Amino acid sequence: MRTIKVNLGKRSYKIIVGTDILKELPKYISALGIGKDAYIITNKFLRIKYGKKMEEALKKSGFSVRFKLVPDTETSKSFNMVNVVLNDIAGYDKRKQIFIISFGGGVIGDLSGIVASIYKRGIPYIQVPTTLLAQVDSSIGGKTAVDLNQGKNLVGTFYQPRLVLSDVELLRTLDLRQLKAGLAEVIKYGIIKDKQLFSYLENHFLDILERKTPAFTFIVRRCSSIKAGIVEKDEKEEKGLRTILNFGHTLGHAIEAAGGFRGYNHGEAVALGILCAALISKKLGMLSDESLLRIESLIRAVGLPRKIIPRNRFLFDEGLQSCGKKLTLSGILKAYYHDKKFKNARNRFVLIQGIGKTKIVEDIPLRIIKEVLRRRI
Ligand SMILES: NC(=O)c1ccc[n+]([C@@H]2O[C@H](COP(=O)([O-])OP(=O)(O)OC[C@H]3O[C@@H](n4cnc5c(N)ncnc54)[C@H](O)[C@@H]3O)[C@@H](O)[C@H]2O)c1
Ligand SMILES: [Zn+2]
Repeated sequence: MRTIKVNLGKRSYKIIVGTDILKELPKYISALGIGKDAYIITNKFLRIKYGKKMEEALKKSGFSVRFKLVPDTETSKSFNMVNVVLNDIAGYDKRKQIFIISFGGGVIGDLSGIVASIYKRGIPYIQVPTTLLAQVDSSIGGKTAVDLNQGKNLVGTFYQPRLVLSDVELLRTLDLRQLKAGLAEVIKYGIIKDKQLFSYLENHFLDILERKTPAFTFIVRRCSSIKAGIVEKDEKEEKGLRTILNFGHTLGHAIEAAGGFRGYNHGEAVALGILCAALISKKLGMLSDESLLRIESLIRAVGLPRKIIPRNRFLFDEGLQSCGKKLTLSGILKAYYHDKKFKNARNRFVLIQGIGKTKIVEDIPLRIIKEVLRRRI
């Protein structure tokens, strides 16, 4: 087990990464002294699979437990769901000392965070992330969000959790598609900040896909440390440092949104966005052919998408999935214009000068963006 500290003065907290550590959650919560009544936001599957274990452990340590089940799709990141959950908490909150436990992937994490940040102007919350993406990324850093029809994550707050507990054992039940989606973010960390991590992924991606514990622990720790380090330096994305975490996300978000959030999932869209950003970097003469090839090869090896399939029908291990909206260049561009990464009406991209080296570039000509997207469609 390893502890990583996120140093943010009064808002500092620990990230605990380990194997089979869910049972230790009550111990860590007791040490924080944040309340006695655990309000756990999760979904049906996780409740059935792990809920009993969690409930028993918490009750044994004197906590009261209430589960709130929400649908496990992106639709849970909505004002409607925030309203439903807030009303449920308020109905339950009679002489209680409530704190929230977010037990799920990034969707449940973002929803729980926003609810915790606004209920009674803020109550404590804990992240127990259950997807690879949530363990390496969304559970750390305090960005909370809901989506609007016009775009993803358009409404949110900065509100740090009091603890992140990442039990890599939970990743065993994750389906392969979700595991690969999380790997897209891990690849992102390697590209923006950590050459060694990138090489590790090139050599060990099969260990990760085969769910080997040492590989899981290695990547979750490494990425958690990188994210913690960036968040510490630029908690509210004011200094331009945290911005590098958006690598691959400008066009990635547009692809995700243009598919109506029912086509490519976040990680898959990010993989496509990473390829687009790398190609833009190459076109601007910032990135070598060799680095571009390494990035493309790793994404291919892991089995993440490299081409935007307009009428998405994916064959994944859970069966054939279809997407509501047809992806077109104009649809992606429309979603891209709604992105909040525009600054003073100028676009803003995180690009790379090599693996491990980023540069923020503004005002990329639309012609280049179109060319790059066309190469992917
Ligand atoms: N706040 C941030 O800083 C931040 C960063 C990155 C991404 N995000 C957000 O995170 C969301 C994506 O998160 P995600 O990829 O975790 O998706 P998700 O939360 O939708 O989870 C993916 C799927 O995995 C299932 N699942 C979760 N844990 C499981 C487990 N242990 N075993 C089996 N199935 C499990 C879920 O039920 C769901 O169907 C997006 O909304 C994105 O915007 C936020
Ligand atoms: Zn992301």
